Amino acid sequence: MTQSTNTAFYDRISAELTDIDAQGLTKPERVIASRQGPVISVNGRDVLNFCANNYLGLAGDERVTQAGIRAMEKWGAGTASVRFICGTLEIHKELERAVADYLGFEDAILFAAAFDANGGIFEPLFTEADAIVSDSLNHASIIDGVRLCKAKRYRFATSDMADLEAQLKQARADGAREIIIATDGAFSMDGYIAKLKDIRALADQYGALIMVDDCHATGFMGDKGRGSYAHCGVEVDFVTGTFGKALGGAMGGFICAKANVVALLKQRARPYLFSNALAPAVCGSSLEAIRIAAGEEGDALRKQLFANAARFRSAMTEAGFTLQPGEHPIIPVMLGDAKLAQDMAARMLELGVYVIGFSFPVVPRGQARIRTQMSAAHTFEQIDAAVAAFIQAGKELGVI
Ligand SMILES: Cc1ncc(COP(=O)(O)O)c(C=O)c1O
Repeated sequence: MTQSTNTAFYDRISAELTDIDAQGLTKPERVIASRQGPVISVNGRDVLNFCANNYLGLAGDERVTQAGIRAMEKWGAGTASVRFICGTLEIHKELERAVADYLGFEDAILFAAAFDANGGIFEPLFTEADAIVSDSLNHASIIDGVRLCKAKRYRFATSDMADLEAQLKQARADGAREIIIATDGAFSMDGYIAKLKDIRALADQYGALIMVDDCHATGFMGDKGRGSYAHCGVEVDFVTGTFGKALGGAMGGFICAKANVVALLKQRARPYLFSNALAPAVCGSSLEAIRIAAGEEGDALRKQLFANAARFRSAMTEAGFTLQPGEHPIIPVMLGDAKLAQDMAARMLELGVYVIGFSFPVVPRGQARIRTQMSAAHTFEQIDAAVAAFIQAGKELGVI
């Protein structure tokens, strides 16, 4: 073990952990002893799972799993290389083609995670001559990606179109060459869908490009699950997304864009150039998930998913809980206090429902919540059982 004489450093780390704990903000890892699905094994017991991003129920799906195994048998564990050295396999090209075709773009580039896609998209495409106008609630990875880029930064209050217009005006007045508006397609902590129709109109008015992070929309929002922009009936310039949620739940990210943009990203995007190629098993699983999502079975799964969301939403509202409004299968149960959110989640687990309390810094202070997420794999009985547990825990803890 490394010996260090710098005890002050380690004391500071311990003090910070103690402080996080004292504020009720510790995020413990709960260990799952089964495949991902509507029912999982936790602490030796089967419980209902209402907090996975498993929108279509394909994480743990046997066909998706077997496709990953077949890909691993054919291509091995991985490439031991980044893409441009000797890390591009046929299956990478196949997955890039499949995701671009599915989402309606000329081309796609793969990353180890959507976090990397967002981290890698801005810096190669925009310089100090340009402007990035970013929604204030954008995912941390967009914020980090914007920080890595030299373009001037402008922020608009979330989904506030008057503020977006003010920022676009300012960027134009400041002489920006290109302006790019960056937004989550669906905001992960609230389930709000970006106002992409209005954003499109403003982008056209001010000559701006649009980038959408569709991690919480790809596979289930809009026609054929093509995403938030399909849901809103508009086109956008760049979409970043993940294979770690609806599309199989493994991991890995992508950017879809015009072919020349993808070509430039393959020359310049640092997380692509300096990180290993996506593992073949992940490619195989993701390809199978896209095949399912893009077909008729995908339509049926999406119908079930939104029926589940509507059922949960209406029963919880009737029971007196405060929910974030909307139609997305992310349905936050608002509690306010971080400790209350932790206590509620702990009680729900005792009652056989696995949910998690979200608090600062993941959501603003004072807006702690339990973010529930519906899946197409949930049955109505499971939805009703979760609502019953919420009602019991909510009454015990004085929430309703
Ligand atoms: C909106 C959004 N963007 C990006 C990511 C990162 O995705 P990945 O897990 O593929 O890195 C997430 C995941 O939490 C997300 O919710």
